[in-house]
Amino acid sequence: MKKILVTGGLGYIGSHTTVELQKEGYEVVIADNLSNSRLEVLDGIEAITGQRPNFEKLDISLRGDVHQLLEKHPEIQGVIHFAAFKAVGESVEKPLSYYRNNLDSLIYLLEEMIARELDHFIFSSSCTVYGEADEMPITEQAPIKPAESPYGNTKQIGEEILKDASKNGKIQVIALRYFNPVGAHPSSEIGELPLGVPQNLVPFVTQTVAGVRPELKVFGNDYPTRDGTAIRDYIHVVDLARAHVAALNRLINERNESPMEIFNLGTGKGSTVLEVIQAFEKVTGKSVPYSFAPRRDGDVTEAWADTSLASSVLGWHSELTLEDAMRDAWNWERKVREIE
Ligand code: NAD
Ligand code: WQD
Repeated sequence: MKKILVTGGLGYIGSHTTVELQKEGYEVVIADNLSNSRLEVLDGIEAITGQRPNFEKLDISLRGDVHQLLEKHPEIQGVIHFAAFKAVGESVEKPLSYYRNNLDSLIYLLEEMIARELDHFIFSSSCTVYGEADEMPITEQAPIKPAESPYGNTKQIGEEILKDASKNGKIQVIALRYFNPVGAHPSSEIGELPLGVPQNLVPFVTQTVAGVRPELKVFGNDYPTRDGTAIRDYIHVVDLARAHVAALNRLINERNESPMEIFNLGTGKGSTVLEVIQAFEKVTGKSVPYSFAPRRDGDVTEAWADTSLASSVLGWHSELTLEDAMRDAWNWERKVREIE
């Protein structure tokens, strides 16, 4: 069994990816410091796959922790690096904490991997690197725009670091630029666990319908779009997780064509905020209380992916729909809140 390190593997995307890796026959070591997750996620993963991943409670932004981790698991053959802080607004308040956590972790991992000739690395990047793109759908060739937040900048700098570090071929990288991950595992055993007030649309919707929040504010109804609300490419987290397995297989089988490859991960379809609400209402039969509010600073009008590269090269494409994602997000919220 090939052993894979998943940093941040107790988090939202990392936990779903761990499940898909285990289903494909990989053995997973999760390293997470629980800064934005809970230990019980291990139970959820085990309930789905019947296998409990190895777990190391470590801080990947500390060199000593990374060193100790790779010393303890010399059989690790690849690293999928999810561990990062990801709240855009918080990154404006605490920029140094974001740069330190997101960039120190990346550099220490790369240094410790290169020292061991461990060279398969998958990086969680983001569509945020494109900013307000000039053309839709967005291809991987679209220019990188100045970052709107320290968080976004950590993804841009992270990609730059990887580009330089991989030039001599000592590390083989696939950077995956996620569009908007949503939904939860259909089993309701794992899902998103936002701390405090959710910043993202879908957890805000599910918490509102669960009665935790009085109403959803729809940020902006004066965008130049079909209904005035902003457009995003919402991708089911299980589809996203499967793409990581495809990327890892490509690296492990040495099929990558350059030391750093970049792929968009989305559905290729844009949905407005109102369409997300309608999809939620259709599959759950619940109405979403909302009102319009001004645009949110830093939000772009529209962003959806051209996914043809991931499809032709990774042989991956999304399979689940926005409605599937809304159903699974709601079932997960119900489970967390113990709603019948
Ligand atoms: P998450 O917060 O749910 O998961 C991240 C996990 O990393 C958490 O379990 C947290 O405890 C852990 N972590 C953070 N810093 C750590 C450290 N120094 N050492 C060890 N563990 C640490 O986030 P997510 O939504 O699963 O995102 C995973 C990755 O994908 C992140 O890199 C994020 O920036 C990126 N990403 C997320 C989205 C999104 O909308 N969710 C979109 C694009 C990119
Ligand atoms: C989606 C749409 C909001 C909340 C963020 C990060 C990005 C990436 C993915 C990590 C927008 C609207 C939202 C609400 C609303 N993360 N909205 N009311 O902003 O596209 O992307 O997550 O890399 O970097 O910026 O996602 O879910 O916050 O918003 O109307 O209460 O929903 O304005 O149009 P976003 P989101």
